[in-house]
Amino acid sequence: MENMKIILKDIPDLHKIEVYESNGGYSALEKALKKMTPDEVINEVKTSNLRGRGGACFYTGLKWTFMPKETPKPKYLCCNGDESEPGSFKDREIFEKNPHQFIEGTLLACYAMGIKAAYVYIRGEYYKWINLLQNAIDDAYKKGYIGKNILGSEFSTDIYIHRGAGAYICGEESALMNSVEGKRGYPRVKPPFPAAYGLWGNPTTINNIETLSNIPEIIKNGGQWFSKIGEPKHPGTLLFGVSGHVNKPGVYELETGTPLMTIINDYCGGVTDGKEIKMVIPGGSSMPPLTKEEALTIKMDDASLKAIGSAIGTAGVMVMNEEADIVKVLLRISKFYYHESCGQCTPCREGTGWMMRVLKRIDEGKGRMSDLDLLIEVAQNIEGNTICALGDAAAWPVKWTIKKFRKEFEAKIPEVEEKSVPLNKVHSLRYS
Ligand SMILES: Cc1cc2nc3c(=O)[nH]c(=O)nc-3n(C[C@H](O)[C@H](O)[C@H](O)COP(=O)(O)O)c2cc1C
Repeated sequence: MENMKIILKDIPDLHKIEVYESNGGYSALEKALKKMTPDEVINEVKTSNLRGRGGACFYTGLKWTFMPKETPKPKYLCCNGDESEPGSFKDREIFEKNPHQFIEGTLLACYAMGIKAAYVYIRGEYYKWINLLQNAIDDAYKKGYIGKNILGSEFSTDIYIHRGAGAYICGEESALMNSVEGKRGYPRVKPPFPAAYGLWGNPTTINNIETLSNIPEIIKNGGQWFSKIGEPKHPGTLLFGVSGHVNKPGVYELETGTPLMTIINDYCGGVTDGKEIKMVIPGGSSMPPLTKEEALTIKMDDASLKAIGSAIGTAGVMVMNEEADIVKVLLRISKFYYHESCGQCTPCREGTGWMMRVLKRIDEGKGRMSDLDLLIEVAQNIEGNTICALGDAAAWPVKWTIKKFRKEFEAKIPEVEEKSVPLNKVHSLRYS
């Protein structure tokens, strides 16, 4: 398969504005401002079938049409660079290697939706990348690509970086907006959706950094061109962030539909020490894991993963070899979600801690066989019952890892005759 690159191109020093310009950078912005109406830009993005790279895979062009055209209110764009999910580390690569393509994509989005201010939300600890992006934004201001009357046109937009304080929940779009407003990062109940009631109650669109970074090439080459790359129903490339038991972990830009084993073997140098795969998480820690058999044949795109009960998420691929302790892996993941639950919704606040404590007990050899069904039941009671998808993100790994790797859990449970546990005792386990 051809190794097509749309964002992480092999051009030395592409992060520098002069190098970006001499390789066609900012020409899409010029083309849009001089030759295209905002609607034509949106239509091109719709034609491309670009889908969000932040996890939910929603159609970007369609999302942009939700923004009201005639409104006296200011409109906003939030660029989501929070990237706090374990296993996801690809947006930082864009800030480092090709920040101007992201900036240009942001400007094109603002032009298309009539937006005059964009906020780039980045986790505060990502100090290095915040500085790199700020330098790139400063350079783009100096050259007249950002600010008033961009490239001599009527269009004016500002781009601001907003530093988060280090909370996974602030990547969720409505919590992100509360955080930008200076409030606690609590997700908001939807509806109203951000296009109707977003930042400070004004129409707002939220897009991921990688999503926006695709826009300049779509405007330059046309939506049709983009729609033919990779899998037609989920076109383009993905920045696969591969970690775990592979010889060359890192971020690899490859077409959607690339077989997982091609990524692991041809790009990541295979599984460490020539060992077998035991489990692969395909899209960040919240996505249901794949067994070895599934990993051997799966193609990495939305439909293929959905067909086997998983999802592409952020394309953060976590590989675990035959020696991995799956109980410890799930306990670690559950600790993360317990720690990061904002506490607003009871099922998530209580359920994440409950799942973590039962898993800890199993890991310590003190579990019971009935714990496995209990864990699945708790997970199912969180799923779909919370304001935001953090609840689902915490529940899916528990539910699916136990369903697919039950033997690994059973192996840690002592073979003692199990007495039936009265319901009130089961509940008291939450505090044990
Ligand atoms: C708990 C939680 C954390 C999230 N974190 C991120 C994140 O760090 N970056 C991101 O782009 N989307 C994240 N999302 C998804 C966003 O809510 C939103 O769908 C996304 O930013 C939309 O951009 P896209 O349409 O370009 O994918 C998160 C969602 C949840 C529920």
